[in-house]
Amino acid sequence: LVIIKLKRDLLAAGKSIEAELFNHRSTAESARLLRKLPRKTRLCTRDFIHNSLYNPHYGYFSKNVKVFSPDSPFQFEKLENSDAFMMELGRLYALNEKESDIQIWHTPSEIFQPFYGRAIGNYILQQFMSDKRGANELVIYEVGAGNGTLMKDVLDFIKEANPSIYKRTEYNIVEISSALIDIQSSKIQDHPVRIISQSILEFEKIESRPCFFLAMEVLVTNV
Ligand SMILES: C[S@@+](CC[C@H](N)C(=O)[O-])C[C@H]1O[C@@H](n2cnc3c(N)ncnc32)[C@H](O)[C@@H]1O
Repeated sequence: LVIIKLKRDLLAAGKSIEAELFNHRSTAESARLLRKLPRKTRLCTRDFIHNSLYNPHYGYFSKNVKVFSPDSPFQFEKLENSDAFMMELGRLYALNEKESDIQIWHTPSEIFQPFYGRAIGNYILQQFMSDKRGANELVIYEVGAGNGTLMKDVLDFIKEANPSIYKRTEYNIVEISSALIDIQSSKIQDHPVRIISQSILEFEKIESRPCFFLAMEVLVTNV
């Protein structure tokens, strides 16, 4: 509401938003109004970083993020050693980058799928079963779930290893990128997943139940 009012006041006074931001040093919050990266605006470094990552119109995480995923899991047993693995990874990564005009992340959740997510699923399950508080539901939050690979591998594992706990599992994703939410949604299948389309920096709900909180390769700046 503050932003809408600011925008209305500036337009009513016949002032350009960019010029106004330049005169009064802007913050990431006021720069949310801009529809393209400002060229003549003064911003503190922290605001510049935040705005570049999260501006709803052009921010890297809001609009452009892309996470590398091999078409099928690596067949580790066929790779002679770690050098052979690195060569294969480099080859696939270069192929993907050629097809894309933006830099692509590669993350352990993707590269070591399904084993990475399964190992984390196993850890969560063991911790949950040995927890003396005896919670009925297994509640998991994942911030920034990328392509949804970790979510799928964790839940596939829990479903196979302990169907009874799986039935009491709730998996929540807090994700800022609408493009990645589409990819995550396509991987949910029958799993008990809820996707919250929001930045974790604006997430205000207080979770009172014991829960697991995952954030893999997620770096957030705080204003
Ligand atoms: C480098 S990707 C990692 C994806 C996944 N965790 C993995 O390991 O493959 C970063 C993820 O965090 C999300 N993200 C970044 N900042 C966020 C924020 N403030 N709130 C919620 N999600 C955020 C991105 O959209 C993306 O899904």
